[in-house]
Amino acid sequence: MPEIAFVKPAMPKHGALVLPIAEDGEPAGLHAALDKASGGALSRALEAASFKGRKGQSATLWAPVEGISRVVAIGLGKSAELTAEGAEAAGGACYGLVAKEREAMVAAEGLAAPVAAGFALGLLLKSYRFDRYRTTEKEDDKPKLEKVAVATDAATACKNAWAPLRAIADGVFIARDLVSEPPNVLHPVEMAERCKPLEKLGLTIEILGPKEMRKLGFGALLGVSQGSAVEPRMVVMQWLGASGGTAATKKKPAQKPVAFIGKGVTFDTGGISIKPAGGMEDMKWDMAGAGTVIGLMAALAGRKAKVDAVGLVGLVENMPSGTAQRPGDVVKTASGQTVEVINTDAEGRLVLCDVMHYAQQRFDPRFMVDLATLTGAIIIALGHEHAGMFSNDDTLAQQLSAAGKPVGEAVWRMPLGEAYDKQLKSEIADMKNVGGRPGGSITAAQFIQRFVDKGRPWAHLDIAGVAWSSKDLPTAPKGATAFGVRLLDRLVADHYEG
Ligand code: BES
Ligand code: MN
Ligand code: ZN
Repeated sequence: MPEIAFVKPAMPKHGALVLPIAEDGEPAGLHAALDKASGGALSRALEAASFKGRKGQSATLWAPVEGISRVVAIGLGKSAELTAEGAEAAGGACYGLVAKEREAMVAAEGLAAPVAAGFALGLLLKSYRFDRYRTTEKEDDKPKLEKVAVATDAATACKNAWAPLRAIADGVFIARDLVSEPPNVLHPVEMAERCKPLEKLGLTIEILGPKEMRKLGFGALLGVSQGSAVEPRMVVMQWLGASGGTAATKKKPAQKPVAFIGKGVTFDTGGISIKPAGGMEDMKWDMAGAGTVIGLMAALAGRKAKVDAVGLVGLVENMPSGTAQRPGDVVKTASGQTVEVINTDAEGRLVLCDVMHYAQQRFDPRFMVDLATLTGAIIIALGHEHAGMFSNDDTLAQQLSAAGKPVGEAVWRMPLGEAYDKQLKSEIADMKNVGGRPGGSITAAQFIQRFVDKGRPWAHLDIAGVAWSSKDLPTAPKGATAFGVRLLDRLVADHYEG
């Protein structure tokens, strides 16, 4: 991933020159300087390419002057409509056009600081690659971009706008790395270990194993885990950015924390209710909710957010074996409620219910948001364009909807209700873990809601359709998206800081 710097405008001596151009913009600065130096070749090239600066447009001019190997024009659309978010998409589109250069300079003299920083963020996010396990890729095929210099007359304002974005990008990359790792490498024990280094950001990290979980009565989570050869883990992450200090300093928190809970099934075979073989490899992504919570906590700590936040993830592997739980088993959850496990493939809710109960008992949070790749049914309902949102609180739901739009992580509110809840009725226990095919995502949410304390604002995000993408997105290559890191960071920034 390239390093980003903000510099005074000066014609680059090598590499690429990037020109973000608005539809109604007049050539100035480096743009005008290059046109002059090339004897008007740039204007002629843009004219010949019918480049008008519209959103999504781009044009490349090769080696117009000594030293500069390419000039890349990127359309920004109408300047009056240009936002930081629009600039992100333009930055993302730019990346592929300069990826084979070692250095690129972005002529951002005409852009306001948040827009210039947004352009850089889009470019950086799009440059993500997970290539740990490639050993034979040819040098020529690899991206080369090492340095992006953003040329601006407002370097200080840009750097201030950039600092938090850089921390957020780091959080996104942490989440994408975790989600991309193969399931033989990233099992529950390893995933918990990978949280440890985040202590250097000022997070307090606790890791609980099966012994502690048995003591806490986590019968539902442990039931899911019992077929696996790898032990389960729960990781509790704390960021005390509002009260100052860390949880370890034992300073009394000034406010109730906000809480984020993630489903971390490092591989979901379905268990004894085993899944079909085709596409089962995708179930390495079933820990994306947990990956997002970890990335989010890193982002909040990295940008020193003025909030007290806790992040908890339940990490298990759902395997079939001689020790696996059976359909028909009854388990006792940490809350005391009992569950008849009808389908061992509806395991995410069994993990979440114990972790969520624990989070409320211990932290009494202001609100709780859980993230989970919970149901295939949400993909049928919403496709890959929105995460499903379920909430018992209109204010929180409204805040989440608003936070998602500008960062390109949209959520769509789904209903909850008594009638759906009835579908969970069991003949032998307090509830079944499945409610049948009708409204499968809703009954899953109803199940989880049974573990939310009365009066506690809560939202559940079913991210099964958005946690990874089979096609390139504006600011992410195909694969793990880290959906939720930016949305929840934005939620905190907009409403829960200070
Ligand atoms: N992890 C899956 C949900 C999932 C499916 C995520 C496809 C991404 C893509 C979850 O644990 C699961 O298996 N859910 C079942 C629930 C059913 C048994 C009630 C499902 O959606 O089929
Ligand atoms: Mn499952
Ligand atoms: Zn699952």
